[in-house]
Amino acid sequence: MRRLLLWMARNRFLRTNLPKLWFAKRAVRRFMPGEEASSALDAAAKFQAEGIRAEFTRLGENVTNLSEGDETAEHYLGLLADIEARGLDGEVSLKLTQLGYDLDVDRTLEHARRLASKAGEAGRTLWVDMEGSSYAEGTISFYERLKATHPNTGLCLQSYLRRTAADIARLMPLEPRIRLVKGAYAEPESIAFRSHDDVDRSYVELAVALLEGRKNGGDVRLGLGTHDIRLIEQIAEQATGMGLPKTSFEVQMLYGIRMDQQRRLVREGYVVRDLISYGHAWYPWYMRRLAERPANVIFALRQIIG
Ligand code: FDA
Repeated sequence: MRRLLLWMARNRFLRTNLPKLWFAKRAVRRFMPGEEASSALDAAAKFQAEGIRAEFTRLGENVTNLSEGDETAEHYLGLLADIEARGLDGEVSLKLTQLGYDLDVDRTLEHARRLASKAGEAGRTLWVDMEGSSYAEGTISFYERLKATHPNTGLCLQSYLRRTAADIARLMPLEPRIRLVKGAYAEPESIAFRSHDDVDRSYVELAVALLEGRKNGGDVRLGLGTHDIRLIEQIAEQATGMGLPKTSFEVQMLYGIRMDQQRRLVREGYVVRDLISYGHAWYPWYMRRLAERPANVIFALRQIIG
């Protein structure tokens, strides 16, 4: 089921036609408050009243001409101004391929620097997502260049990739801000752990390596981008054992998933940030959400019928 859903995410015909269907639009509402940025900002304002911080992303990947990348950068500059105007504790997370990375890396870096400068004016972090493994090396090199000029930038790394421990060691001198996730793409066994146990073990080891960087006095930041409460608890215990406070890491979860846990963690004194997506190009992203938990397919069908 997982493989089928990931194949559907990549299929060109489905990508063009499925999102036009009313029932697909209806089903996606579970994972995003609306297609417009204003819906995401409204949702963030409600979360803020409950102590949950926000992170925003406009869905879309792999633009095919430079003007689309330029438009995305302008859009996020406007969004950062709106976040500021509404007094939200909100950050931006984006995919490099949305900014035109496939077409012109240097221009993409210019965009990212402008966005990081704007985010930095209000003490915010600009987050860079991690895409499929063919982008891993390029994205990490890109982050090294961006972090050198803009310390307020963060990168997503995936615990299912065998290379990630070495990547963290490589980035550590830069005092990185890392959002650690398990990984959402279909990757071959030669480069990625396949079993849940291996991915989870890797996740805890990588988180601990980053916490150690922090304990040793570095300005390393760790975001746990997972809904796996068992892992979060394990890492929280390790942090306590190292003498680090609850606020030494941040939990980042997706809009609509485990909201009860997001609220509980806030009540218990953890920092929680909810990633709110919006935009029209939600299809591949939505299919990856279904693939993460095929039981969601049943949920989606129920929403369509009900
Ligand atoms: P896992 O899939 O094991 O789920 C743990 C539990 O959480 C499940 O048992 C279930 O209860 C619940 N859960 C998880 N997913 C659910 C879903 N879709 N619907 C309902 N319940 C669900 N990936 C990537 O490759 N690059 C990236 O840049 C990012 N960025 C990112 C940012 C943030 C803030 C998050 C939370 C995640 C990402 N991801 C990502 C996605 C990530 O790689 C991963 O696919 C998902 O987080 C699902 O894995 P979990 O860690 O939640 O564990």
